Amino acid sequence: MKIFADTADLDAIKTLAASGLIDGVTTNPTLVAKSDKPFLSVIAEIAECVDGPVSAEVTGLEYDQMMREAEVLRAIAPNICVKLPLTLDGLRACRRLTDEACQTNVTLCFTANQALLAAKAGATFISPFVGRLDDIGLDGVDLLRDIRQVYDNYPRFQTQVLAASLRGTNHVQAAALAGADAATMPPQVIRALTDHPLTKAGLAGFLKDWAATGQTILP
Ligand code: E4P
Repeated sequence: MKIFADTADLDAIKTLAASGLIDGVTTNPTLVAKSDKPFLSVIAEIAECVDGPVSAEVTGLEYDQMMREAEVLRAIAPNICVKLPLTLDGLRACRRLTDEACQTNVTLCFTANQALLAAKAGATFISPFVGRLDDIGLDGVDLLRDIRQVYDNYPRFQTQVLAASLRGTNHVQAAALAGADAATMPPQVIRALTDHPLTKAGLAGFLKDWAATGQTILP
């Protein structure tokens, strides 16, 4: 499963990119607003930090404006993935951009039917919002399973399931078990994936015993 950082925080992205653990970055207008930097320059800087797809979202609601914005975004770098809302205009723009060999991420997906349409529109990624469904008392992981099943029923679909709106490590594990192709998560969730109390306690015990030997590995 690919792991994407869901942030526009450049420092966090640089640190994660250096770890070799992330395969791309996703942003949305809310995340960019938090960065306090101009949108196009922050996207350009992010695109330099990672080789994989960097999702940058259009803000127009109508096809013509989406396409004009997409032109600006995709000119930033070859790894820009144009993020489009799951609307009829967004899907129309998705079809056109896919036909022009531009990567696309169709966002704000809450049903398997929406995901079906995104695949028919040739989206590179579909982003089901797991956490936001949980927030209203539904089961976001069920949606991931349903989309996986629909896509597996039709092997000609090329769209990758990108689990989004993941709030914690349990969501990440559930996304992997549900067969998501990729998952995007905040940097703190990526860092927390290494955490386990027994890992910490085990390491402390090993180091204590090692110190008692008085030995060193390095000369
Ligand atoms: C990513 O593409 C989404 O925009 C993001 O995961 C949404 O997360 P949120 O529901 O926590 O805002």
